[in-house]
Amino acid sequence: MNIIIFGPQGSGKGTQAELIARNHGLAYISTGDIFRYHIKNKTDLGQEIEKYVTVGQLVPDELTNEIVKDRIRQPDCVVGFVLDGYPRNKLQLELLNTIAEINQVIVIKLSDEEAIKRLSGRLACKCGLSYHLIFNPPKKEGICNHCGEKLFRRDDDNPQAVEKRLAIYHQETEPLFDFFKQKRILHEVDGHLAIEAVYQQIETVLGLNSKNETGLHQNS
Ligand code: AP5
Ligand code: MG
Repeated sequence: MNIIIFGPQGSGKGTQAELIARNHGLAYISTGDIFRYHIKNKTDLGQEIEKYVTVGQLVPDELTNEIVKDRIRQPDCVVGFVLDGYPRNKLQLELLNTIAEINQVIVIKLSDEEAIKRLSGRLACKCGLSYHLIFNPPKKEGICNHCGEKLFRRDDDNPQAVEKRLAIYHQETEPLFDFFKQKRILHEVDGHLAIEAVYQQIETVLGLNSKNETGLHQNS
């Protein structure tokens, strides 16, 4: 099954996409994580895109589309994948439609006010997991439960970049929903609930039934 997760910044796309992928054996693809990997490792691509990501602008479509095309062709995607952060505009949707069939689409609904609160407490890990100082703290302060690496604040979680990212989401990404609504594969879930409750809504609308649920991601 190929799934897209949409939602404003801080709505929990990464949190939920990782859970769905892990519990159902799907590949997890986050364009944001791929870009951050290149920036951190100072690859040629990383040096080219850093100026966009840090201020909350979209990376140019030609670069983003190439990366997604390559990623979706990797063998782990044959069983299905969860896409987080792509497509974000019309050109990206057009490209996606030529390379993959999407079966289900989730939109996590969250107010901008709540999104901003979430991002101010987020701690990220280079392995892709996200934590929150209050809502989802790691077991050991500042350390990832999963890989043991040090957690960090994202450069683009500053107020100016967050404002820009939210504006782009409303202007360029939300208009894509109509395409999936017409195909009757778009489901909205309430992102204001706790992480486990959001996950349960997603499992229900996708018709999935996971045994593992959110266990590995919890603090207890
Ligand atoms: P990306 O990394 O995708 O960032 P984003 O879209 O801004 O989304 P976030 O990662 O900020 O939010 P999220 O919804 O994943 O929330 P999370 O689960 O972490 O993209 C970054 C940048 O890369 C872009 O700005 C752009 O520059 C570039 N880029 C990426 N894709 C691109 C593309 N396709 N084209 C061009 N450029 C692209 O959760 C947030 C926080 O809330 C965490 O602390 C979490 O623990 C907490 N939380 C989650 N759920 C809950 C809950 N239910 N209750 C309480 N707390 C919760
Ligand atoms: Mg994310």
